[in-house]
Amino acid sequence: MTTTRCVLLSAAFDMHEYFGAVMAEHAPAVTLVGPDTAEPEAVTLALAWRPPGDGFTRFPALQAVCGIGAGIDNILSCPSLPAGLPVVRVLDPRQGAAMAEYVLFHVLWHHRRFGRFLEQQRQARWQRFVAPPAGEMTVGILGLGRIGGEVAGTLQGLGYRVAGWRRADGPAGLDAVLARSDILVNLLPLTPETRGILDHRLFRRMKPGASLVQVGRGEHLVEADLLAALDSGRLSGAALDVFPDEPLAASHPFWHHPGIVVTPHVASEASPVEVARTLARTAAELAAGQPPSAAIDRRRGY
Ligand code: GLV
Repeated sequence: MTTTRCVLLSAAFDMHEYFGAVMAEHAPAVTLVGPDTAEPEAVTLALAWRPPGDGFTRFPALQAVCGIGAGIDNILSCPSLPAGLPVVRVLDPRQGAAMAEYVLFHVLWHHRRFGRFLEQQRQARWQRFVAPPAGEMTVGILGLGRIGGEVAGTLQGLGYRVAGWRRADGPAGLDAVLARSDILVNLLPLTPETRGILDHRLFRRMKPGASLVQVGRGEHLVEADLLAALDSGRLSGAALDVFPDEPLAASHPFWHHPGIVVTPHVASEASPVEVARTLARTAAELAAGQPPSAAIDRRRGY
């Protein structure tokens, strides 16, 4: 059997430990090698997550690089990524459902004021708050791709009003969603246009007292602006799953802020089996002289 050599490129975690066994089972025609392999010119494929800045330079024969999930911004921003190299992303059908679970939990958390009740319980304080029906709550969703669409459908199924926005809808459409939303969910891909989009200008256009569920990328958020919006009461709470530097530093103010719930980038990820299948399919397509079917549009950025 001819095998495709695939280099593992990550400055963030030990990919071999995470993917080694599952690749052997689900992508047997792919041989994983480390970045210090003795034969870099025999490597035609890469699997990457937050690759080191010079990660691609040793590999002149690469034909494609595959990410390990839906967001491949961390690969596109790598300075050594060769121009024109196809970038493949993993579209695990389970990722939409997992994201819908995560978002639903936080929508309920804000809608039904569980944070307030937890606080009251610590003080043995009985104070009732009867939440409005879901049909009187609007959830705004920024980013209406495959995952955003599934989140929207789940919330609508429970009776929430959903207002969605995608970049093609333009700035006026965004303003309308911000003004209406009691809870705003960020599911945008990270591109030069969306970097820093969650800033004081956006928070000022949101409904007073609204809350934020941030499950896009850490770089979408201007952290100081969020803290100011929470401290002034402009926003009432935020659930944050993604950060520009992960793990979040122990000294970061987000950990102890009463209006913030922090989770360690767990909202939704592609299963290792699906990553292995995507890699195997990509290797087979390249071996057959075909372009990878799961390649993203590099100019668009997702
Ligand atoms: C997770 O962050 C992903 O991009 O799939």
